[in-house]
Amino acid sequence: ASAGSPAGAHPGFPAVPPDSGDRVTVPEGFEYDVLIRWGDPVLAGAPSFDFDNQTEAAQSGQFGPNNDYCALVPLRSDGRWLMVSNHEYVNELLMFPGWDPEGPSEEHVRTSWAAYGMSVVLVDRRREGGRMRARSSSRWNRRITLHTPFEMRGPAAGSPLLRTGADPTGRTVLGTMANCAGGTTPWGTVLSGEENVHMPFAHAEKPTDPLVKEGLERYGFAEGASLRAWEKYDERFDLGKEPHEAHRFGWIVEVDPSDPDSVPVKHTALGRFKHEGATISVAPDGRVVAYMGDDERFEYVYKFVSDGRMRKGDDWAAQRHNMGLLDSGTLYAARFTGDSPAEEIDGSGELPADGEFDGTGNWLPLAHNDRSFVSGMTSDEVYVFTRIAADRAGATRMDRPEDVEADPRTGRVYAALTNNDYRGAAGQPGPDEANPRKDNRDGHVLELCERRDDPTSERFVWRLMLVCGDPESPSSYYAGYDKSRVSAISCPDNLAFDAAGNMWIATDSGGRGGVNDGLYMVPLSGPERGRVQRFLTIPAGAECCGPVVGEDHVLVSVQHPGEVPDATPENPASHWPDGADSQPRAAVIAVRRKDGDHRGPGLRVGT
Ligand code: FEO
Ligand code: CA
Ligand code: CA
Ligand code: CA
Repeated sequence: ASAGSPAGAHPGFPAVPPDSGDRVTVPEGFEYDVLIRWGDPVLAGAPSFDFDNQTEAAQSGQFGPNNDYCALVPLRSDGRWLMVSNHEYVNELLMFPGWDPEGPSEEHVRTSWAAYGMSVVLVDRRREGGRMRARSSSRWNRRITLHTPFEMRGPAAGSPLLRTGADPTGRTVLGTMANCAGGTTPWGTVLSGEENVHMPFAHAEKPTDPLVKEGLERYGFAEGASLRAWEKYDERFDLGKEPHEAHRFGWIVEVDPSDPDSVPVKHTALGRFKHEGATISVAPDGRVVAYMGDDERFEYVYKFVSDGRMRKGDDWAAQRHNMGLLDSGTLYAARFTGDSPAEEIDGSGELPADGEFDGTGNWLPLAHNDRSFVSGMTSDEVYVFTRIAADRAGATRMDRPEDVEADPRTGRVYAALTNNDYRGAAGQPGPDEANPRKDNRDGHVLELCERRDDPTSERFVWRLMLVCGDPESPSSYYAGYDKSRVSAISCPDNLAFDAAGNMWIATDSGGRGGVNDGLYMVPLSGPERGRVQRFLTIPAGAECCGPVVGEDHVLVSVQHPGEVPDATPENPASHWPDGADSQPRAAVIAVRRKDGDHRGPGLRVGT
């Protein structure tokens, strides 16, 4: 079978061909439902969606736009879950008819604040022939927005660097934003990464404290007024007036979806950077480890190792104990050392003489609670300016680390390095064995084995499993598998694992080569290791995120459909999912077999 053709005798599904249409495609024998869309009611009393009449009040009770991470946390009764979605960002130009970039109206700004954050929605499949349905207004349903109070916890909570006029304690923050990917913890909570938090702040030129200035620059905060004009309606977004408000975003947040009245937490022990997400592994001794990526060019891979041990059971005391595990522990950044001679890593992407991009690595400790391991920085400074700490520790600058997550069956850790078109450019870092391609447009997937298979270990070995891109190019590598039999994949972003030993990869290529993004499956071991197969594609302009791979269902977030240059509400580039002349709406879709058969893991696609 040729790449992308459905002719391969795959045991689980025939790969779908690449697509460029304004539609979702799934394999023969499968179908999908739209579970929930931007604007659908989440809370009791919320109105139905009205694109032309959006208000803060309506959006506060509706599903937000541009959902990224998706978690399904099972309820105790069979067939019901709490779905948690991240609403990463607002694109005002496409969201609001009549948005005025010269002077956004207060209602548009306030509606945006209500659109950010997260949703908790009950999903039920006990009726309607086993189809999943999102239920509006269950007792668990919740919207978290830029107004929801969060508790800062961990070693830097209360630090002077986190205090503002509105919060002299440095322990209570209003809202979360730029929530990208995340993780579902073994204790039933959801972690979410605050990623591009610099975007809405204004006037980074105004603070005078040298460390604050260095931090704003290192994290990419911009000078001058902001395009979004948030600072006009809330002074906390004006860094000249509240320089520390910037420090109160860029954290991993934890939400307990089972308790809609719970106060969500921002975890300072996990460091502050442009968090893609955080995923949990449990060590043999019960300590928990959070793997994390900082998604920007030349940023780092991190992990956190807890001091405490996880308690089994879902009683209230165990839950309370486990929700404190991320409050104290050690924060590390990763250093990757290649084993091939530097001259063999020439930037072309062709394999070195030993046949693999591989080597050894170290987790470099940055801080343990009140103790800093970085000279010249206090522990508070390490936690608030973690990027600067990792710079000084000598961590390895990577090609945009997105999801970092362990396969629960083997404990092996996989890091999606989505791309980096600056690698090897003038004045920029050149290729190294862990990031071996110049102008890395297609990204790669790194596989990491902790020493003695213990996730708390400070040493590891690693190799690149996939060097993505055109299978016919000598600069791509599909774990040594016959590249004439794979689906081409570009820009890996979010990862998930099924019970049969396959990894699922959602892509964010921005439509590279005219091919829509999608979800791919690849076996991790055995003779099929490296055989990437395209499972679904999503509409043009959309990014595929948040895959959930269950026993009989696959959920993905279809983020920002129709977001292409020059699109406007008057001239939308997509009408998905409602068709006709509708505006595009981000959504969660659920894929299942047409015959409704839900026996066996991973849609029975195991190899
Ligand atoms: Fe929001 Fe790293 O993608
Ligand atoms: Ca090598
Ligand atoms: Ca992402
Ligand atoms: Ca991305």
